[in-house]
Amino acid sequence: MGRSSKDKRDIYYRLAKEEGWRARSAFKLLQLDEEFNLFKGVSRAVDLCAAPGSWSQVLSRKLRGKESSEDVKIVAVDLQAMAPLPGVTQIQGDITKISTAQEIIRHFEGQSADLVVCDGAPDVTGLHDVDEYIQAQLLLAIFRGKDVTLLYSQLKIFFTSVTCAKPRSSRNSSIEAFVVCQNYSPPEGYVPNMSNPLLDHSYDVDFNQLEGPNRIIVPFLACGDLSAFDSDRTYPLQLDSNKEYQYLPPTQPPIRPPYQQACHLRKNNLLATEDSPSVLLDDSLSAMKLDTNKENDRTSRNS
Ligand SMILES: C[S@@+](CC[C@H](N)C(=O)[O-])C[C@H]1O[C@@H](n2cnc3c(N)ncnc32)[C@H](O)[C@@H]1O
Repeated sequence: MGRSSKDKRDIYYRLAKEEGWRARSAFKLLQLDEEFNLFKGVSRAVDLCAAPGSWSQVLSRKLRGKESSEDVKIVAVDLQAMAPLPGVTQIQGDITKISTAQEIIRHFEGQSADLVVCDGAPDVTGLHDVDEYIQAQLLLAIFRGKDVTLLYSQLKIFFTSVTCAKPRSSRNSSIEAFVVCQNYSPPEGYVPNMSNPLLDHSYDVDFNQLEGPNRIIVPFLACGDLSAFDSDRTYPLQLDSNKEYQYLPPTQPPIRPPYQQACHLRKNNLLATEDSPSVLLDDSLSAMKLDTNKENDRTSRNS
């Protein structure tokens, strides 16, 4: 398969490279903004689960593009390291940890965020964690599967408006969707805390069985202009007869992706097989570091 075949199969992957976005996910946030006007009046934003950083890029371009951009604060958090972006403060940490929440709050100097976006599934985020620093709007990536009813019910306690949305750039074949929560209004006397019963697996009620007024049905909105590209379709490489197709490399490859070790093992034929035991993890990690150092030396000599 040639390197351009992914450009054909995934139009948003290709457009992301052409427009300089680090990942195709940028279009999801842009299309959600077209529908919900997410960035209106926002000067403090948090991007949770941010790497490789295409949503932070969108926030940086949209919020800092305005005239009074000195007031704009954007904090991006991820377990993975991320290449720097203009006007974005990065925290490498686990968003489910109170220490990470405290670090984010410190960056806002006591003020709450106007917008929190999170592109990690809620099973990993937990909900109470984000209450700590939200003031107005929350955008959460979700998988519409088990526990989604519980998630909606919890969100409805904190926001007057909760909508489930599916942008055109999110494949129909995927159960991924986004919950847009607006008008943060927690119950009176509510004190944000980090207790997380979802992660403790202590719920034994099947919330999907709830009926009648006990079940929250949130509006579902397919969003994005119908003339926008369809993420489930394959497009020809020559999209525009006046512009010749040219292959472009990704805008910003990940710094140290979690799959790097697997690729190293495979490239060096070190994957475990039935008759050959797997290499020790430590040995393989040191070899990988050596490989990366050699690669970096080569790159700095050539530049
Ligand atoms: C789908 S990617 C996010 C893509 C990003 N929105 C973009 O536009 O480039 C999900 C990210 O969630 C991060 N992640 C998962 N669990 C996390 C956690 N507990 N704390 C921080 N980051 C987490 C992963 O490291 C991964 O980079």
